[in-house]
Formats: sequence, C-alpha cells, structure tokens
Amino acid sequence: MTAPSSAQPISSEQAAVELQLVDTVVASFHKTEDPRLKEIMQSLTRHLHNFVREVRLTEDEWNTGIEFLTASGHITDAKRQEFILLSDVLGLSMQTIAINNTMHTGVAAATEATVFGPFFVDDAPEIPPGGDIAGGAAGQPCWVEGTVTDTDGNPVPRARIEVWEADDDGFYDVQYTDGRVAGRAHLFADENGKYAFWGLTPTPYPIPHDGPVGKMLEAVGRSPMRASHLHFMVTAPGLRTIVTHIFVDGDPQIEIGDSVFGVKESLIKKFEQQAPGSPTPDGRGLGNQTWARTRFDIVLAPKGA
Ligand code: BEZ
Ligand code: FE
Repeated sequence: MTAPSSAQPISSEQAAVELQLVDTVVASFHKTEDPRLKEIMQSLTRHLHNFVREVRLTEDEWNTGIEFLTASGHITDAKRQEFILLSDVLGLSMQTIAINNTMHTGVAAATEATVFGPFFVDDAPEIPPGGDIAGGAAGQPCWVEGTVTDTDGNPVPRARIEVWEADDDGFYDVQYTDGRVAGRAHLFADENGKYAFWGLTPTPYPIPHDGPVGKMLEAVGRSPMRASHLHFMVTAPGLRTIVTHIFVDGDPQIEIGDSVFGVKESLIKKFEQQAPGSPTPDGRGLGNQTWARTRFDIVLAPKGA
C-alpha cells in the first residue's frame, strides 16, 4: 500500500496507474530540443502530479482551481497583473529573487533585493539632487540620503536611482484615474556616489485585493497588508541592477507579516521623526510640519555575481 499524506491509503495497483501516467507525461517531452525547456517541463509535470496525488485533489477542487485561474486571467490587463500578484502572495516571487540575486560580499555586502511590485512606471520625471519626489502626493515629508558604492567600497558616480511609493492614503499615482504623476521620480548619485531627495514617510497599505487573489487570501485568513516601504531601483554600468525597498523600523506590520514576504532585516531602516519647525538639511521651509529622515547606503554587486 502507498499512503498519500491526506487521504486513505491507496492500493499498490492504484499507485502504479498514477505513477505510470506521470512517467508517460514526462516522457512526452523527450523530443524537446531546448534542454532547459525540457528540464523545466518535465520537472513541472512531476511536481504538479505529485501535488495532485499528495492532496488527492477532487474534481470539484480541480474545477475551483481552473475557475480561479480563469478569473485571474479575466482581471488581468495592461495595468493589473493577477498572476504576478499570485506569485507574490505565494512567496514565489521572493524565491525567484533569492535564487537570482545571490548574496555577494566584498568589503561590503551587496544590498538585498526584494519584490518589484506592480506600480513601477518607466520614464518617471528626473529630479535634481535634493529634489522632491512627492509631486503633490499627501504624506509626511521625509529626507532620504545615502551613498551608492560597489562591494569593494568604491563610490559609484552617477548611478541612476528610481524611487516610487504610495501616498498617505495607501495609493500609488497610477491607481488614480486622473493621470497624476506623484510619489515617483529618478535622480542620479553625484560624482562621489552620494544622493539625497525628499520623499514621504511610508505608510502601510494593502496589495490590490478586489480580485481572485484577494478572495483567496480572505479564504485562508491572510491579510493583504504590506509593511510600509519605499521602492528603489538602482542601475550603473558593469554592476548588477538592484530592485529593492526600505522598510520602516518599528512598523507593527513587519511583525504582523508582509503579504508578499518582501521584508529583509537588512532593509529595515530607522526613520527618525523630527520635531515641528526643526531645521531641514537643505534649508527647506516646512513651517510647523513634522518631518522625518532616513539613510540608505546602497551597495551594488558586480554584474554576473
Ligand atoms: C507593492 O509594493 O506595492 C506591491 C508588491 C507586490 C504586490 C503588490 C503590491
Ligand atoms: Fe509598494
């Protein structure tokens, strides 16, 4: 007898029928010319069949799965990608990132990568050093500064830094229908690899949860909330592009859990609250408003590392 984990034991004859089918399907890929495609399709087949056999998937459950995927397809368009969202909440995006952005340490450890998310937009406006990315987005002003270096500790002059974030209401500009561009920009590090800009102190917000992925999270008692964060993508010739965020030290959502498993200890930064009216680093007048400041030193791994 073979005993699948979640069901009655099955007879060895039944197991033989099931395993024969796995072998037949795996063998059907034998003519695949591309060896990598062959490896992927055969492994995928084995894992999918193992899953179905392990949980003894019923036909109703198979149908529910197909309906879930169909609904994910229907809600997906140029702006909404439910399949990536599914990958995100299953931790598959972070696993793929872990495999492809291996740790690299020289004098300094390369900055860790995290999920890209659906809200990056090409061609965000350029701001000068010390400029403001808010573009009218509501939120507490936050001075963000740091350096871009390589793992040998050398400054990376003129590294391109893309930054984007949600406003205080938890929405990115692209989630509004009025075409606004806010809470995003790009800038360049200076000749010594230093950069600074004004952003907004990040606040927690949910991933889009009005579709099948949201329903699934609800069914399993999981929250769609993300830990507060500010997105970065940094590029420089000869160095590995980093896509990452920084998270706010003390944000309770870090402990509660990030819906897409994006938090890494090294990316949690202190956002120091400043008293109303205290002088700003660049002399910007903020009246009696509070503001915050943080530091993020970015370390880029060599390309191919
Ligand atoms: C975000 O960071 O905004 C995000 C990341 C993954 C899925 C959904 C949203
Ligand atoms: Fe985000």
